[in-house]
Amino acid sequence: MAKQGIQWEESPHVLKMQQFSVATLIRITKHANVFANALQNEEELPRLSTPLRRIGKRRSISRRIRLLFYAASTRTECTFYDAATLLGCDVHIVKDPKAFSSAAKGESLESAIAHYAYQCDGIVMRHNDEGSSEKAAKVIDAMVARGGCRSVSVINAGDGKGQHPTQALVDLTMIARKRPGQFLQDITILFPGDLLNSRVVNSLLYAFGKFGTQNIKVIFCCPQGFAPKPDLLLYLQKYAVTYDFVDPTELPSAISCADVIYMTRVQRESNEAPITREQRELYVFRTEYLSRLKPKAFVMHPLPINEDSNDPPAEIAPELISLAIGGDPRCVWFQQSHLGVAVRAALLDLIFFHGDSMAAPKK
Ligand code: NCD
Repeated sequence: MAKQGIQWEESPHVLKMQQFSVATLIRITKHANVFANALQNEEELPRLSTPLRRIGKRRSISRRIRLLFYAASTRTECTFYDAATLLGCDVHIVKDPKAFSSAAKGESLESAIAHYAYQCDGIVMRHNDEGSSEKAAKVIDAMVARGGCRSVSVINAGDGKGQHPTQALVDLTMIARKRPGQFLQDITILFPGDLLNSRVVNSLLYAFGKFGTQNIKVIFCCPQGFAPKPDLLLYLQKYAVTYDFVDPTELPSAISCADVIYMTRVQRESNEAPITREQRELYVFRTEYLSRLKPKAFVMHPLPINEDSNDPPAEIAPELISLAIGGDPRCVWFQQSHLGVAVRAALLDLIFFHGDSMAAPKK
């Protein structure tokens, strides 16, 4: 029977940020940093070059990871794939199961999971429905409890308007790398735009709750009706994360006092009543705002940015996208997304290999 590595506060699954302790979050970000440095310092390109691949190949045991992507994804899926491959796992992607698997024949999520439970050690799942990863985890737990299968970790890779915990781990690691020695201490983070429907924003805010003693200030700048859900705001209050709402007319001055500006896309595909184009114009990060940034402040985005010319505006001015491509330290979203490989490799390493993948090779 395969024994999983770290148990995330009594559960083998990664479902939502509330489940983590501060110590575990710090452990993951530090471990991710080790992976990120190793990937960065590699002499050979492409990134996943032979020396690092050998880490995985050295193992006497492997792990089978299944990526079940019921909903669209580019970065999350690819970075999980690269991360798992890097660790020498056997990876299989079931893409769009609703079209290409038994789900197209009417199979429920529960039945699909009951099947995969026998086949693999980890299930990374993206789904349109909030709570679907928890549903999958319950199926696994019930099977394990009756001795019907071994432990399998379910990892939530984004569930509807719920959470996206591994994106929050990427974001925390990015902040830790940009603010060495400080991390979240005395930080002010500004969130402009659609804050109601973004699972990325949800997970990052729940993560902040874990660090409430570090004097975190959050500024929300969103249209009426697009504020974070009341239970999330109560959670922030409970865990001493200070927050404030500002009017879009105050966006430029809010940018001047923020250490991080966290931009997100309007989640049009999941909104019954999306933010109008006129409203969206008010929350765009414009080129002229760069001069307002504090000396070490930077702009994050989980990607993708809406660059659809038939449905403008993009939430970030096109000139800034060029700056980001050029590696401007204030526009970090491409570095942030690339960090996804290191963070997900660190996470899988801690779950499946006791965190020893970066140890010196055994002679
Ligand atoms: C986000 C997602 O899918 O939740 N992207 C990501 O995973 N990096 C953000 C989005 O789609 O807007």
